[in-house]
Amino acid sequence: MSRKYHIITYGCQMNEHDSENIAGLLEAMGYKHCDDPYKADVTVINTCSVRENADKRFFGTLGQFKKIRKNDPDFVLAVCGCMPQQPRVVEEINKRFSWVDIVFGTQNIAEFPRLLEERLKTGRRMRSIIANNPDITEDGMKPVRMHRHKALVNITYGCNNFCTYCIVPYTRGREKSRALPDICKEIKGLVSEGVIEVMLLGQNVDSYRDAAGNTFADLIKAVNEIEGIERIRFMTSHPRDISDDMIECFKTCDKLCHNIHLPVQSGSDRILKRMNRHYDREQYLTIVDKLRKVCPDITISTDIIVGFPGETEEDFEETLDIARKVRYDSAFTFIYSPREGTPAAKFEDQIPDEVCHERFDRLVDVMNTISFEKNQEYKGNIYEVIAEGISDKDDKAISGRTDGFKLVNFTTDKAPEELKGRKVKVRITESKTFSLEGIEVTE
Ligand code: 5AD
Ligand code: SF4
Repeated sequence: MSRKYHIITYGCQMNEHDSENIAGLLEAMGYKHCDDPYKADVTVINTCSVRENADKRFFGTLGQFKKIRKNDPDFVLAVCGCMPQQPRVVEEINKRFSWVDIVFGTQNIAEFPRLLEERLKTGRRMRSIIANNPDITEDGMKPVRMHRHKALVNITYGCNNFCTYCIVPYTRGREKSRALPDICKEIKGLVSEGVIEVMLLGQNVDSYRDAAGNTFADLIKAVNEIEGIERIRFMTSHPRDISDDMIECFKTCDKLCHNIHLPVQSGSDRILKRMNRHYDREQYLTIVDKLRKVCPDITISTDIIVGFPGETEEDFEETLDIARKVRYDSAFTFIYSPREGTPAAKFEDQIPDEVCHERFDRLVDVMNTISFEKNQEYKGNIYEVIAEGISDKDDKAISGRTDGFKLVNFTTDKAPEELKGRKVKVRITESKTFSLEGIEVTE
């Protein structure tokens, strides 16, 4: 009987894609996926450090495996992702969680099969965490992808921005861009497997620059030429580095989806400075204007942090104000939480929890009202949606995404399997805050 694996994934799309690659490596070793992390032969926990209470939750999850390991000495528990890139976390694992067999870093995933084989052969605990690995690569990766029709594609690794609240530059190392021809080659290979939509991934895609001097705009133009690709998305943009050339791509590249995730983080110039974001609200609003001029139907989402150290009521009102000015389609809102080792964690004027929560609730109210109002504009119109599968909310409906990344749950006569990855015309019948509802139209 073949051996089984399970991967638990926390965090962002980078982590999701890393897990797809890890699954590919395990399948190449003959392992088969199983749904239960406690019944697998190998369970991998791919961790995130960004979310609130990440440490507490992570160590809690590790605790749950103690018994499994005791009852089955052959069970292998591996930990990877952003958590173990912090030396204090590895120390803690070694001290308190003896049942963690393998620990590896975000930049040496390719090493995992060797670590696993050695663990199985010797029974030794394996640790390999490389910081700033110059050899980080996609070579030899055959990701087991979540969707047949759409794929995540790394274009840069790491981040050089050092926003003062953020742990990522410490966990994913210095920024490194993949060569444009390598990325295009990977995407052509994906097309041959049935992929029609790609999401280009980087912590700051706008600072992409490969050794030959190609920019992010060059990359988009090159991907736009790839036959078989129908939709191009990317994530995440940084207002500091976004170029006019890139913005023009929304006009000149027909496959580029009319959607951008443009984190603003705060609407206050004072706070943006303390965050080390390198733009002010004026510059941010100018970018939004340019985007809407070039691409009037572009949808815009954002990330916002409330309660950053030193944030006054006036600063917070500036955030509410910029949100109202931009009128975001959607937003991810976070309460600031200190990350050990980042500059902001040492700032003295931390904001009390009650104040953070009160501001957070007010912000969510404003954002949700705007999202709801914006979604009303879709009612009655017909949109092209790429179907993804049965809706999480209603098993009689199919879910899909519009070009602008709106989630649409729609009804149809066809079987979900038949529609997966297909373009469907949907008339919107109902608009909610986070999704649209509709019905397939067949001419
Ligand atoms: N506290 C709160 N939110 C954070 N983010 C990153 N670090 C922190 C932190 N320490 C948010 C930012 C970023 C998103 C991915 O997570 O808004 O854009
Ligand atoms: Fe973190 Fe800023 Fe880099 Fe984004 S750009 S990963 S928020 S340091």
